[in-house]
Amino acid sequence: MKKTVLVSGGAGFIGSHVAVELIQAGYEVVVADNFSNCDMTCYEGVKKITGRNDIPLVKMDFCDAEATEKLFSDYRIDAVIHFAAYKAVGESVLKPLKYYSNNIQSFLNVLETACNHGGCQVLFSSSATVYGEPEKLPVTEESPRQSATSPYGNTKQICEDMLRDTVHATEGLVKGIALRYFNPIGAHPSALIGELPRGVPNNLVPFITQTAIGKRECLSIFGNDYPTPDGTCQRDYIDIVDLAKAHVCAVTRMLEGKMKQPYEIFNIGTGRPVSVLELVKAFEKVNNLKLNYKFAPRRAGDVTAIWADPTHANEEMGWKAERTIEQTLASAWAWEKHIAGK
Ligand code: WQD
Repeated sequence: MKKTVLVSGGAGFIGSHVAVELIQAGYEVVVADNFSNCDMTCYEGVKKITGRNDIPLVKMDFCDAEATEKLFSDYRIDAVIHFAAYKAVGESVLKPLKYYSNNIQSFLNVLETACNHGGCQVLFSSSATVYGEPEKLPVTEESPRQSATSPYGNTKQICEDMLRDTVHATEGLVKGIALRYFNPIGAHPSALIGELPRGVPNNLVPFITQTAIGKRECLSIFGNDYPTPDGTCQRDYIDIVDLAKAHVCAVTRMLEGKMKQPYEIFNIGTGRPVSVLELVKAFEKVNNLKLNYKFAPRRAGDVTAIWADPTHANEEMGWKAERTIEQTLASAWAWEKHIAGK
């Protein structure tokens, strides 16, 4: 019998890509979302890509404990992948309690319900932000976590700890994996699902694509005096489809009893540092256009450079990032054109 995976926040950017990969790998998927930061576009896209019109969609808020309990009773959930959370770093500094109450409460309800339903596995969507400004590069899973620089980042650390402690307290009845994402970018090659930022994008790639299409006048590159080869910050940009596939590997590892520890952590990145300027130039080249950009002062809170050592995920999960930065940037541009054409 097919295993069922609940994807909380499954109508959003990462959740929808993960839903597609899970279905294509043979899992049943239940999508649950409160639609606080997305519309039906990606859910509809998932149905089109997979050719499945019957993917259960539950409109609900995981901060509601009763609704969470009901969801687990209505569907026989074998594993849950928890994405449902607020994610704007800047906003979290201005409205910390909004982030603490939503991101912590929703995960607490998921964990409590997973425990009540005896042995549901939990995959948590974490972030490389837990490493702060690393002393040594690339970062491995053993690299120390640093004090979070934003409430958003702090919620990721707290939720990781909540998962670890729950796994230990249930003596492994509930197992957990935290995936620490580096910088997820791009869109599905079909251009039917992708990122839909509301208002002015904070993240680099949506700002680039919106500038290229004329929604924004000019990209500001925040800082060109960093101690990096070209003076701009370096990140590990991971293709969204590669990232989604890592979730399938992790869920399969959990459900097939292949975990070596009841709580495991994996870095999900490429291992390849790319500077902001390199990314802009690659975008221009692969899409054959010129981008209007200028250098601007550094942005508060940015780390100089961070990229992953993905060896652990490569060797243990048999997962590896495959798409080139050019393929990824072409997919981001195709998606921007697709939504502009709507
Ligand atoms: C990347 C680089 C900017 C915008 C954040 C979160 C992280 C994760 C992903 C998400 C930086 C530069 C950006 C612009 C620029 N979480 N930049 N001009 O900050 O590495 O990570 O997003 O949910 O937790 O912290 O990603 O895309 O914002 O920035 O020059 O208009 O691009 O300074 O060097 P970041 P980003």
